[in-house]
Amino acid sequence: MIQQTNQSVMGVVPAVQWIGILDPDLRVFDIVMETKFGTTYNAYFIDAEKKTIIDTSKEPFKDDFLAKVRKVCHPSELEYVVMNHTEPDHAGALKHLLAEAPKVTVVATGQALAYLSEMIGIPFKSLKVKDGDVLDLGNKRLRFVGAPNLHWPDTMFTYLVEDRVLFTCDCFGAHFSHPAMMDDLVGNYDEAFDYYFHTILQPYSRFMLKAVEKIRPLDIALICPGHGPVLRTCWQERVQRSALMAQEYLSSAESSVRRVLVAYVSAYGYTREMAELVASGINSVPGTSAELMDIEHASLGELEAALTRTSALVVGSPTINQNTLLPVYKLFAACNPIRDRSKKAMIFGSYGWSGEATDIIEANLRVLKWEVTSGPVRDKFRPVGDKGAPFVAAGKAFATGL
Ligand code: FEO
Repeated sequence: MIQQTNQSVMGVVPAVQWIGILDPDLRVFDIVMETKFGTTYNAYFIDAEKKTIIDTSKEPFKDDFLAKVRKVCHPSELEYVVMNHTEPDHAGALKHLLAEAPKVTVVATGQALAYLSEMIGIPFKSLKVKDGDVLDLGNKRLRFVGAPNLHWPDTMFTYLVEDRVLFTCDCFGAHFSHPAMMDDLVGNYDEAFDYYFHTILQPYSRFMLKAVEKIRPLDIALICPGHGPVLRTCWQERVQRSALMAQEYLSSAESSVRRVLVAYVSAYGYTREMAELVASGINSVPGTSAELMDIEHASLGELEAALTRTSALVVGSPTINQNTLLPVYKLFAACNPIRDRSKKAMIFGSYGWSGEATDIIEANLRVLKWEVTSGPVRDKFRPVGDKGAPFVAAGKAFATGL
């Protein structure tokens, strides 16, 4: 098995070479997303009469990336760089490439070109393309497939007609680094693939389904994504899997059973008791189901997954030193206003003196676009005796209002 490195390039088909970067040691992507399998930043060289590169790499790897470019061509020969998406894990090295390849024209959607202008800060030659446009590379053609909002407004796919290769950037990719780089040589990476979809693409499931329909008529030999293995043997399976996860997400959002995540931390068990009381109130409402979750040791991935499958959120915390606790701030980091916007939320908590935690949580949830439907429910120390009833009632009222 050939092992790729950050010094080697790899043939995908005779006219296409992978010139991407392996980042196997990355453990957190975009600060908030866990990447326990590392990742790759895939870029590709098309050896056409008009030499072309698809996407670049993250800026810290620019030297390795540029060395790879020099292995496949002289940068001054490059005609085009196609940017399917401009997030800096793909666009970070572009300005350094442009410095070596002055005649290059950057090909991208209008949104992408606007973003690149802001990122690069110097003029560059550009060609704005839209869905269905074709770019002549002399002996080959590129056809552009509009695929917006996957997961930025700028995104598109690029189809190399003569070689039947589709370049999809973040779509159908995974944060998964393996030096063999080919889907049939890297072992099972379903966990990384599914996690990537749930974390990055799932909020855009409607757009994913549209994109899948759009590529269905294409005669595709393989898919080259922007992260993870090249799909040379199982692209259909990955596309179908993405469509299925998108459909499942949209169906669960419309499900008749409303899930309510009751996320809490508890120093001495008092807030846990409140959480159980709130959950019992929620469960007393037909068609509603509470999911209790002690988030003290929850990973970002677990929080993401729980937030993704919930229809509403209840957060409980004690007040310690006039503040809430670190796991609750981690929960905030896992919130995604695009996904969670307008979902309903309530807050509860235990306190001894002043009880600021619930107000802090409420303020943060509002900023994160949750719809907080009522004021916090809180009480001193433990919900003993009659003090438990308001928590049950609050849970019931909250669930009734969903
Ligand atoms: Fe891999 Fe959205 O960048």
